[in-house]
Amino acid sequence: MVDNRNLAIGIFDSGMGGISVLADIIKLMPNEKYIYYGDSGNAPYGTKTPEEVRKLSIDICDFFISKGVKAIVAACNTATSAAINQLRKRYDIPIIGMEPALKPAIELELKGKIVVMATDMTLKEKKFSKLMDKYAKQQDIVKVPCPNLVELIEDGIFEGKAALEGIRGCFKGINMEQISSIVLGCTHYVFLRDNISALAGEKVSIIDGNKGTAYHLKNVLNEKNILKDTEENKLLLEIYNSDTDNEMIKLSKKLLEFSLKEQGLKIHL
Ligand code: DGL
Repeated sequence: MVDNRNLAIGIFDSGMGGISVLADIIKLMPNEKYIYYGDSGNAPYGTKTPEEVRKLSIDICDFFISKGVKAIVAACNTATSAAINQLRKRYDIPIIGMEPALKPAIELELKGKIVVMATDMTLKEKKFSKLMDKYAKQQDIVKVPCPNLVELIEDGIFEGKAALEGIRGCFKGINMEQISSIVLGCTHYVFLRDNISALAGEKVSIIDGNKGTAYHLKNVLNEKNILKDTEENKLLLEIYNSDTDNEMIKLSKKLLEFSLKEQGLKIHL
């Protein structure tokens, strides 16, 4: 009989963004086996219709199921807002989603507005409206759609002038003096954290949902008694990408090494 504890965890995103989530998950659970799927061939998701994103998400999860996984993480706020209910209905394994980390931002109890940077779809979907309704009385929340930033990361640009220009474009019309925190509501933006912080100023807290997602995944695996309990001396990871150009696999590895280094882990892929 297959021991479910030894099965892989499937993690997907419209492309490179979910790699930042994968890094936090690896840091927390280094012995697990992972299959990462980046849908760069269809990125960005944020400008598609929710129906299109649902169909793409289902195709990826069917692929994970065919590989035999014990849980799936939609490491993408956009796919979560469009597809999480359908995915949970379709599969009988845990499906972990992501949403902009508004709750942790509110809990900081800082004085000033909260900016939520995310894709147009995430900010327009019902899931986020509900979340916003819950907290809008406590603090002013400013929605900032950032359509170009996903493309920058997909092109491997997360530092330098072009990155700064892209972020500056998103912040147009925002008075940073009034902002206390910025929620990175798209997993791609996590790679731009330092530049976002440089432009916003050191008084502004930058918050993402990656660590929260990693802990949530671990709790769910633990509750279901499917946490892997054997140690590995190397990282067990397969990376797939819908863009058949091998460059995207190379970029995935580069971004993962970069994120793991930020976590204090030196892993050469
Ligand atoms: N990483 C996705 C997210 O978290 C980006 C969506 C896109 O491809 O537009 O929302």
